[in-house]
Amino acid sequence: MASLLLISTFAAYASSQSTTQQAASVTAAASGSQASGLSQKVDPGFAGFGIEPSNLFSFTGGDFANDVSMQFLQNLADYSGSPPHIRVGGNTGDYMMFDGSYNEFWIQADKNANGQGAIASNSLTFGPKYFEAIDRMPTGTPITYGLNLAYEGSDYISNIVTEASAALDNLKNVKVFSFEIGNEPDLYLQNGFRTGQWGGQEYVQEWQDRTSAIYEQVLKSRNISSNFFEPPATASTIGTTFTIADLVQDGILNKANGSDDSYVSGWNQHDYFYFVDVSTLPIDVNYLMDLDHTVSQFAYWQQEIASSAKYNLPYNLREMASIGPTGITGISDVFGAALWQLNFFLYAASLNITSVGMHMVDGSYANAWQPTSEQSNPPSAVVRPSYYSYVAMDQLIGAANSTLQIAALNASSLPPAYSTGSLRSYAAYAENGLMSLILINALQSNASQTPKNTLTVSVHLPSSLAGQTLHLSYLTAPGADSMHNTTFNGLSFEDSSSGGKPVSVGDGKLQSLTVGPDGVAAIPVRDSEAVIATFGALLGSNAVQHANGSNGETSSASAASSSASLTIATTAAAAATASVTGSGAPSKSGAVGLRRGRDEDLLRWMAVGTLLLGLWMMMYG
Ligand SMILES: *[C@@H]1O[C@H](CO)[C@@H](O)[C@H](O)[C@H]1NC(C)=O
Ligand SMILES: *[C@@H]1O[C@H](CO)[C@@H](O)[C@H](O)[C@H]1NC(C)=O
Ligand SMILES: *[C@@H]1O[C@H](CO)[C@@H](O)[C@H](O)[C@H]1NC(C)=O
Ligand SMILES: *[C@@H]1O[C@H](CO)[C@@H](O)[C@H](O)[C@H]1NC(C)=O
Ligand SMILES: *[C@@H]1O[C@H](CO)[C@@H](O)[C@H](O)[C@H]1NC(C)=O
Ligand SMILES: *[C@@H]1O[C@H](CO)[C@@H](O)[C@H](O)[C@H]1NC(C)=O
Ligand SMILES: *[C@@H]1O[C@H](CO)[C@@H](O)[C@H](O)[C@H]1NC(C)=O
Ligand SMILES: *[C@@H]1O[C@H](CO)[C@@H](O)[C@H](O)[C@H]1NC(C)=O
Repeated sequence: MASLLLISTFAAYASSQSTTQQAASVTAAASGSQASGLSQKVDPGFAGFGIEPSNLFSFTGGDFANDVSMQFLQNLADYSGSPPHIRVGGNTGDYMMFDGSYNEFWIQADKNANGQGAIASNSLTFGPKYFEAIDRMPTGTPITYGLNLAYEGSDYISNIVTEASAALDNLKNVKVFSFEIGNEPDLYLQNGFRTGQWGGQEYVQEWQDRTSAIYEQVLKSRNISSNFFEPPATASTIGTTFTIADLVQDGILNKANGSDDSYVSGWNQHDYFYFVDVSTLPIDVNYLMDLDHTVSQFAYWQQEIASSAKYNLPYNLREMASIGPTGITGISDVFGAALWQLNFFLYAASLNITSVGMHMVDGSYANAWQPTSEQSNPPSAVVRPSYYSYVAMDQLIGAANSTLQIAALNASSLPPAYSTGSLRSYAAYAENGLMSLILINALQSNASQTPKNTLTVSVHLPSSLAGQTLHLSYLTAPGADSMHNTTFNGLSFEDSSSGGKPVSVGDGKLQSLTVGPDGVAAIPVRDSEAVIATFGALLGSNAVQHANGSNGETSSASAASSSASLTIATTAAAAATASVTGSGAPSKSGAVGLRRGRDEDLLRWMAVGTLLLGLWMMMYG
């Protein structure tokens, strides 16, 4: 009876914004141990990033630090309890040579370099300032650092040992978590880094040649154990001899000399949902938002995840994005991509993927934020909708104090207008108890479409939860095609005067509801919107127990008026959303000198052009 009342009360609220409601149904268990398909614990740095080495300074800033960009990382650290995992690696890492005497916030490109490769494997020089820039990231940021495998001049061992030592000695504020050696070596025949016989077996030999030298000359003296390396697993899905099973057979897990461990700390997998000029299907927002496509994309990789589990090693997806190499405007930079990305984080967690690094490249529309030119003073950054999916994931992780586990739920009685790919539902457990329910309604509804339909999902819970309050945190925007005015939990990051910090703007959404006496929670979620419904307290309102042991500040989520069972938030007009410059296109307005401008273009071309060259073989799905 009371739950009927609840639904009808809500209908009155919803009718002002939406057309007819439709209903679907899911069931969630009260404890993790009773849940089917429960994941392992989700690491607080789970929702991470990859940064293309030649483009590092765009994100960190060069001579002038990009404080806004670094604040975007710090927010996430504050929400989850630990900074996001960062991989500094990519194609251009295989062109990089460390020179301790090169003392500029810049990467020098040498067009006459002679190392083998379609682009020479020693054509970029960097120095200590490169590490100084990485060290601007939040304290304790776990870094997977990519070393050059492509270069094979006679001094290749001393070169890689020098690079590894320089990383460990110069990175002080962040924490080097692992080394990667070589970017996508299964594609080395295509980009000319190797000729003749080249497969998993040759790769494992060359890799061990380098890992053993680094262990002997760099790690041992620093008391770092041998298993400090993440071998890249296969990037292509056809004709490959680089699967985890192949590499294990080739001896990659052999014990290190004088150690009880191997050299392997986990795998370093790369994949994109879609890659321009490699994926053959046409792409639009609707295709991205059909979440069944994410499942078919990962059918292949699930075998690799299972292989990884067999050897008790973490499976890290360190290079990923909606669309590689640089996204597509109108698809990667609109709100639909934020819904895709929140689902991707949860889906990946449910598959026991240990970490997901969305790859950041200069000028990519898939970046969570777009930095201005590193030469502008001060450099800044403009947020994209997909950033809010990190905020949602990290507030969820933080609320669980590093004990988050995810289980995917199956919806039934989906109305005919919804395909199976339009709705995703997950349960989140903390300390084994049900903490949150996550509903993603990915049916496309653009900003101009009014009124919008709302789906009311009846979540069937054990009757022990009857009468409990669920606090609602919406991931919302005017529509699937919106580039601006996304909020999560009423927070906005678009105010250019806030230095990248959150501004509480509210969202006018329902703030909480009560589980009915029959154990059913009827949770409304509009088309093109997601909601996280949490027991106990609104996400972000409790202090987060930091993974490093300290007890943090509460994040500045909109204050919860959590006592009432049906409070409708008022839109906070106080904090005005400031205008955001540009439509998300990379700003090249900085005063860039002519020579430097040319080199900048060269670096960008290297990052992007060679992603294309190197990955022509990589299969979608
Ligand atoms: C994930 O890990 C948990 C805990 O180790 C295990 O119970 C579960 O079956 C794994 N799930 C998958 C999809 O492998
Ligand atoms: C612990 O992590 C938080 C969040 O990243 C950070 O603010 C704090 O400084 C860290 N404390 C220590 C002692 O490293
Ligand atoms: C390495 O560990 C040993 C024994 O635990 C210790 O005596 C030594 O000081 C450590 N060295 C460094 C560089 O931390
Ligand atoms: C193995 O370790 C020993 C002792 O540290 C050293 O002399 C030898 O060179 C190492 N062998 C290899 C292949 O690294
Ligand atoms: C996480 O820790 C905070 C601060 O100690 C506490 O208020 C909160 O209840 C904890 N959350 C869970 C799910 O245990
Ligand atoms: C959801 O459906 C899939 C496919 O039918 C099944 O494998 C899985 O166990 C179901 N999960 C739950 C929680 O019922
Ligand atoms: C929403 O906008 C996109 C891109 O502008 C367009 O392709 C799509 O057809 C629109 N969808 C609807 C349902 O209007
Ligand atoms: C965002 O919303 C505010 C307040 O509703 C509005 O004034 C502003 O024009 C919107 N910004 C964009 C870029 O649509």
